Amino acid sequence: MSKINLILGLQWGDEGKGKIVDVLTEQHDTIARFQGGPNAGHTLVFNGQKHVLHTIPSGIFRTHAMNIIGGGVVIDPVILNAELENLNIQEIDYKNSLKIARSAHLILPTHRLLDAASEASKGKAKIGSTLKGIGPTYMDKTGRNGLRVGDLELPDWKEKYRKLTQKHLKMITNYQVGLDFDLEQMETEFFKGLKALKEIPFIDQVQYMQESISEGKKILAEGAQGSLLDINFGTYPFVTSSTTTAAGACIGLGIAPNQIGEVIGIFKAYTTRVGSGPFPTELFDEYGKKMAEIGHEFGATTGRPRRCGWLDLVALKYAVQLNGVTQLAMMKSDVLSGFDQIKVCTSYQYRGESIGHFPFDINEIHLKANYSECKAWQEDLTQMTNADELPKELIKYIEFIENYVGVPVKIVSVGPDRAQTILLN
Ligand code: IMP
Repeated sequence: MSKINLILGLQWGDEGKGKIVDVLTEQHDTIARFQGGPNAGHTLVFNGQKHVLHTIPSGIFRTHAMNIIGGGVVIDPVILNAELENLNIQEIDYKNSLKIARSAHLILPTHRLLDAASEASKGKAKIGSTLKGIGPTYMDKTGRNGLRVGDLELPDWKEKYRKLTQKHLKMITNYQVGLDFDLEQMETEFFKGLKALKEIPFIDQVQYMQESISEGKKILAEGAQGSLLDINFGTYPFVTSSTTTAAGACIGLGIAPNQIGEVIGIFKAYTTRVGSGPFPTELFDEYGKKMAEIGHEFGATTGRPRRCGWLDLVALKYAVQLNGVTQLAMMKSDVLSGFDQIKVCTSYQYRGESIGHFPFDINEIHLKANYSECKAWQEDLTQMTNADELPKELIKYIEFIENYVGVPVKIVSVGPDRAQTILLN
């Protein structure tokens, strides 16, 4: 029997999960995505080339690994097809190293339209969705109306598709936002995508995962987005529609809680967020601009600029506790090199008192970040390969974080490349 290791983002997504999954794939046989959909953009850099994946697990570039798109994922066949075509161009042979759970739900063209209509109707209160149809697809899943990958093997799936599409079109009209679209064109791409999807083997996920565990396979579950975007525990309603926390791996892959081994929490040395919603440590000054510039903080899926701010340890500890994180990976440490000061949020000023927990209502009207200062480091980290080379101020920064959240930092990333990864004892 083996245990399944988890990789999870602990902030608002974009922490660099793709890179760490890619690095850790060396030690695993199977990589399984368990939730989210093509709202994710997992970036991997190796041999001087950048690769972005949206649906396909980040182990696909390592030839030994099996990659599973789990039942908790929502799949847009159009985007999946584009990803597969990209792999074809790069001559990555995925035919024997990719499988899809029959229980994964499909994102229909009209789900994307519904997403757009819902956001347009909200005006200034919009979520800032990636508009990939994620929310409406999960709504159909919990509303027991969704179309699943396994349904494609049944004779009546087209009828189901038509019924659902008709229902969506009525809903879109009700939004009264004057959406302009060419459904025929969207459907042509959708059906082309379905053809490509059907060439990937489907699995009955619980049986597959349980057999893999019994056989002693080393499995890594790859999360998407981050804990602060979790549907239950994130900054609701400015969240995504899936369970991005550790519990999501159980429901998204068909595994039991006691089958989970290491929980590897990924966080940036600072904080970013795309889309709307509260962000207590957000910076609107030169420091924030510097983080965005040096860190190339633009969304991998939408290209939108990311909001930047200091590391929020209150939020990080919340995520560590919620997920049972056993070890941490700190990403983008190199971005903070050369700052003249570094701050970390260690408590919140909330409705007139100082608190050390993540409250129900983190609306900025009631809540302000309180900071501690840490000494900055000036050295360029990007060429460093060994823990001994890291500046003592950075080590102190890491120790401060470890002491606050109570979990060790085991990986420090000093650049986007696979090779720019330092392991700590
Ligand atoms: P949705 O999941 O596309 O509906 O977007 C809901 C919120 O989650 C928006 O604020 C998005 O910007 C954010 N979001 C969704 N996926 C990601 C991601 O992979 N990285 C960062 N933010 C994301």
